[in-house]
Amino acid sequence: MTAFYWTIFLLAALCRKTGGQFLDLKNITARDAFLSGTLPDGFLWGTATAAFQIEGGWDSGEKGPSIWDWYSHLPQNVPWGDVATDSYHKYKEDVQMHVNTSLNSYRFSISWPRLFPDGTNTTINQYGVDYYNNLINELQNNGIEPLVTLYHWDLPQKLKERYGGWVNDTLVEMFENYARFCFTTFGDRVKYWTTFNEPWSFVAALGDFNNDPDYTMKYKMAHNVIRAHARAWHTYDDDFRSAQNGSVGIVISSIWGEPADLHNPADRQAATNYMEFFFGWFANPIIGNGDYPDVMKRMVRESRLKQNQTVSPLPEFTEEEKVYNNGTTDFLGINTYTARIISATNETQTCHPDNHNFASACGYMPDLMGVKETIGPGWFYMGSNIFWFAPWNIRGILHFVRERYGYTKPFYLSEVGIGETYKYHSPPNLNDTWRMCFYLTYANEALKAVKLDGVDLRGFYAWTLMDNVEWGSGPDLAFGLYHTNFTHPSRKRTPKRSQGLYGSIARENGFPDNANHVWMTRQWWEWCHMDEAYAPTRHGYVEPTNNVRPTQPAPCPSVSTAPAAQSLMFTGILGILAALVAFCSP
Ligand code: NOJ
Repeated sequence: MTAFYWTIFLLAALCRKTGGQFLDLKNITARDAFLSGTLPDGFLWGTATAAFQIEGGWDSGEKGPSIWDWYSHLPQNVPWGDVATDSYHKYKEDVQMHVNTSLNSYRFSISWPRLFPDGTNTTINQYGVDYYNNLINELQNNGIEPLVTLYHWDLPQKLKERYGGWVNDTLVEMFENYARFCFTTFGDRVKYWTTFNEPWSFVAALGDFNNDPDYTMKYKMAHNVIRAHARAWHTYDDDFRSAQNGSVGIVISSIWGEPADLHNPADRQAATNYMEFFFGWFANPIIGNGDYPDVMKRMVRESRLKQNQTVSPLPEFTEEEKVYNNGTTDFLGINTYTARIISATNETQTCHPDNHNFASACGYMPDLMGVKETIGPGWFYMGSNIFWFAPWNIRGILHFVRERYGYTKPFYLSEVGIGETYKYHSPPNLNDTWRMCFYLTYANEALKAVKLDGVDLRGFYAWTLMDNVEWGSGPDLAFGLYHTNFTHPSRKRTPKRSQGLYGSIARENGFPDNANHVWMTRQWWEWCHMDEAYAPTRHGYVEPTNNVRPTQPAPCPSVSTAPAAQSLMFTGILGILAALVAFCSP
């Protein structure tokens, strides 16, 4: 029987029109069909966190301040990071929360100024070294694989004050020293390292808190970040790999830019340009040809010429640097939450929430021209104007990266998650059915990427373990599987309903075609594709009032243990539908 359904899915997959680097996911019935099966053996299921967002203990021991400590202590801000979720003291509980969720991995970041208070290796904070040693040992004792990020945006404030931050070339060497220290100190137990988390976000959106609307500094920052990444990778490759046998990657974020009309070359080009500015800026030097994407070099130059600037602000890599950059990753971490539909346009775009133009017209990619971003009907709101529910973006982006860059190394989905806005002092809603639907569908898309598209995907990390400090938004934008009580000094954590469902997917390594687990996930699947699951936003954008999440949590359907035969029938019907649609579409 299983073989029968597999055949149907395979046919459906084969029959989809291939769009080269753009996976054709326009057939919504086929796209959204449930797929049963498991992820490869050894697949890593985890959560991801970041030091500033959870640790607290901002000046404990001899820790130096980071640029985020500086920012959050400005008079107009609330220093939520001072205590955060108090993981500096509660790391054992963090680990137990992984155990209780049946997870086998944890992605966390090391705070550079916790180890090197002034950013340099002249002074080392032994308390910080002890803290990370304890955390890593605790993980190891509980059979949980650490995946460690070296830089999740918390630059030592001293490096900002002394050198101006990433805009200064000196940072490349400083980062190499810091990375070397981490490899030396923790590399006997840490086998998965990533250098930078989401360079696009901390360069384009944050810019080290510098005001740089014309991007002269940001292009320079990115240049140094890429050089620092390559340096850290070579350091590991030359001096640590043979003894430690680990791997070093980078985490790049992207919105999946899907062409509005796959058959329209102008839309395809616009979507390619969009992806190159978003993803390719950092990916092309590392997994492409060692250099910035050609289209980016051309468009930055042309757009500056229009402003009578004759020199492009995009720095150039030397030939030697291009060779040095190229191939400097053992795996790619992809953070992806959402998608955009991209079409070509000659009209100037304006930045407004109703336009959903997150990146192109809102100052984040100022030299990108001719691109209109929008979202589809029924993509529901996920707590912020950036994030709209589009689970298939997982398949879209993984396929794009593989095809466009000829990338054949492993992928990890290093962050996938859904936020909700609420006021931290309000009572929590632990019955987060929308988040259950989110993990059910996004994890199922991960399975499809492996089974239908043949992607070498090795891990899935939920963002995030517990409600934490969402940067400038503080605790009012919450992504956790556990609720954190920010009104309580001990930051009590309580599991939400989604924690149980995510744990069950992790325990079963996906969606095996047996057991009650199948029935449970199928029933939820049905529920999640009903309008009530996300009402009223499912039919389009509803302007959030006072920044409060417009969707009220839906009532829970009861979970029954009906016979597996019914669930198989459900899959069968979906499979047949998928196949029919795939066959019949022109
Ligand atoms: C990406 C970032 O890596 C993480 O720090 C942030 O909290 C989430 N996205 C949600 O915005």
